Amino acid sequence: MENNNNNNNNNTNYNNANSDNNNNNTNNNSANNNNDNNNKCNKYNIKNKILLAPMEDITNISYRILALRKGVDLTFTEMIPADFIVKAEMEKSLIQSKIYEKLKTNKEDKSFVQIFGNDANIIAKAASILEKEDFEGIDINMGCPALKIVKNNSGSKILTNLELLEEILSKTRNAIKKPLSVKIRLGFEEENYLDVIKIAEKYVDFITIHARLRTQGYSGTADWDAIKKAKSISKVPIVGNGDVKSIEDAKKKIKEGYCDAVMIGRESYRNMNLFEGKNQITKEESKELIMEYYELWKKYSPDDIFKLRFFIQWTYKTKNIKDLRREINFLKDEKEIMNLLEKY
Ligand SMILES: Cc1cc2nc3c(=O)[nH]c(=O)nc-3n(C[C@H](O)[C@H](O)[C@H](O)COP(=O)(O)O)c2cc1C
Repeated sequence: MENNNNNNNNNTNYNNANSDNNNNNTNNNSANNNNDNNNKCNKYNIKNKILLAPMEDITNISYRILALRKGVDLTFTEMIPADFIVKAEMEKSLIQSKIYEKLKTNKEDKSFVQIFGNDANIIAKAASILEKEDFEGIDINMGCPALKIVKNNSGSKILTNLELLEEILSKTRNAIKKPLSVKIRLGFEEENYLDVIKIAEKYVDFITIHARLRTQGYSGTADWDAIKKAKSISKVPIVGNGDVKSIEDAKKKIKEGYCDAVMIGRESYRNMNLFEGKNQITKEESKELIMEYYELWKKYSPDDIFKLRFFIQWTYKTKNIKDLRREINFLKDEKEIMNLLEKY
């Protein structure tokens, strides 16, 4: 994705970030459209212009690599508290910290690490610590609606304090050389995303917008007209997010000028094959997906039984899914969990 903002001359290494990433990508979607030369993403070799959304308790390294193999260009880690990173580094305990699991990355992983907080100095410091890891860039969460986050003046609450928002972005921009992005909502209680964009575009390489207010949570539908308006005024690429369930839909939105790239979240755990352009998934295919995930999980996340259970609960397509979802929660052993697939 191209940033029209000249302040970020340091960010040269993003160009090739995804160039050799899709060797395993057998996707038959046609999201890759060479005719859309006006699209700001072309410069960065983001082939399909499809990003995997950050999702807490879901998008660990195994999940992200699976999505990348299926064809997404870029992924995001689960959100990570900036103060925890700074404290862990001061105590030289980053490696041992419980956040370590969320910070795992490797060469195959093409991921931004997402952080959140309410203090510009701490966020900037955390970004500079994490920049040394193998991530493509840093993303700052300014969209999380969860009460415990908002109460702490973090996440979407920052949208109500534009001075703090600018301080966070400017200090973080100055603290790192890698690409910087921000993920926002349309506003907290009232829309102010156009004001936010005018500030954010001075500092970030792209802006992701989940087109709902904080007060909406996940209710209603995402307002894609707002995303189109955002793109029309933004100097940096806009990544549109909310309710997209197929590559066809994502491609249409990009082609019709709503956004420069599309980020997809929830539909990915219902059917990761959507990234290959397959909107329907059979029981057999869902089992294959689970096996693929399981192989990655054994390699990278074997201590995180919750995520294995979650993947099965949402991905497996069987008539008795409600029973499976209940039963699987009692199991702690991976073999027992995988054996359950035979029963259902
Ligand atoms: C379980 C879950 C966890 C999420 N965690 C995060 C997160 O850590 N950081 C973030 O910016 N957004 C998070 N989100 C929001 C998603 O990134 C995305 O904006 C939202 O789900 C809308 O996109 P979708 O309709 O494609 O799912 C989360 C969403 C869900 C459902």
